[in-house]
Amino acid sequence: MKDSYGRTIDYMRISITDRCNLRCRYCMPYGISSVVPEEILTLEEIQAVAMAGASLGIRHIKVTGGEPLTRKGCCKLIKMLKAVCGIEKVTITTNGICLSHFLESLAEAGIDGINISLDTTDRKRYQEITGTDGLRQVLTGLEQAVSKKIPVKINAVSAVWEEDSGQENDWLEVARLASRYPVDVRFIEMMPIGYGRNFKSLNHHEILERLLNEYPGTKKDEKVHGFGPAIYYQIPSFQGSIGFISAIHGKFCTGCNRIRITSQGYLKTCLCYEDGIDLRSILRAGQQNSLGNCLENGHWNWNYKDCPGDRKLQERLTAAISQAIRLKPKAHCFEQPQQMTEQHNMIDIGG
Ligand code: GTP
Ligand code: 5AD
Ligand code: SF4
Repeated sequence: MKDSYGRTIDYMRISITDRCNLRCRYCMPYGISSVVPEEILTLEEIQAVAMAGASLGIRHIKVTGGEPLTRKGCCKLIKMLKAVCGIEKVTITTNGICLSHFLESLAEAGIDGINISLDTTDRKRYQEITGTDGLRQVLTGLEQAVSKKIPVKINAVSAVWEEDSGQENDWLEVARLASRYPVDVRFIEMMPIGYGRNFKSLNHHEILERLLNEYPGTKKDEKVHGFGPAIYYQIPSFQGSIGFISAIHGKFCTGCNRIRITSQGYLKTCLCYEDGIDLRSILRAGQQNSLGNCLENGHWNWNYKDCPGDRKLQERLTAAISQAIRLKPKAHCFEQPQQMTEQHNMIDIGG
């Protein structure tokens, strides 16, 4: 459906856990706040939300966390989401630490793409940023995903790291992952959310300039690479493209296509504000909901006439989601942090 600014909303980001097996300094350096499991949506509840979203025009789902692969049943959920009528693509954003272990199941579930968070190619720097000596593990997962021909993108948050580690990150080395492997590498400007406020975001013009100096043949890449806000460039001889997600220095809110569901079932309409609606209370109102009974022709279909319990629930969810979409804010206000109402950490939101 369209929001009140005429933007088509067809992308839903769903966080399935607030836990993570890394301690990135801009995300959750001191460990988890740990929500009790009952507060997290069940797989069936997540699927019900996806079905309601699909009935409103959601076509793409991004599974995020915390680290989504730490949630038991993650691959099963991907299969359940892939089976929702109307959903065309289900992708995942992971830190890649246990990707190797889950790759077979992800492929079997029909995953359409894997985004791997990797801010540096330097082993020591990786440990400084994430609190874990895990670079080799992530690269192994990456290589295996590529060899399975699953589309892979790298996410590198481009903060000014030297302020706390005394040494600047080698952005060209990170970009060169797109030369070594057939993957897109995207730089993400640090957003002032949670611990991200403690870091200075790097202006992507700086990285682009360095790329242009080193690779003068670099050209804008107009090909569509997914459903996100990245702007891409192609470097001759590189297998993948270089993307820039420049939320601060290249605001892209006029093209926003998304809503977010937190692991606790709160629908967020923008990263920057608390605005949204609590879907969990709708999902859990009364015990009459008989989720998961509407498999028709291999597709989960909320409209299936023999499931009145589900249909009522779906109607309530759909009404709530469409109301929230209508109230979606026009744009973020990261440039005026005092106007931001979002006080949660990125780990609670799902990136
Ligand atoms: P694909 O390219 O389709 O894989 O999607 P994506 O780029 O949206 O996915 P990913 O989960 O890898 O997100 C990459 C980064 O973009 C994360 O840091 C997100 O927080 C950021 N991002 C995603 N959506 C938005 C958005 O709506 N607004 C802002 N400001 N940042 C976003
Ligand atoms: N600003 C920008 N990106 C962030 N991520 C986590 N915190 C921030 C932040 N404050 C990134 C992760 C992951 C993606 C989902 O979001 O590194 O790649
Ligand atoms: Fe959309 Fe808000 Fe992200 Fe802007 S900051 S692109 S409005 S979610």
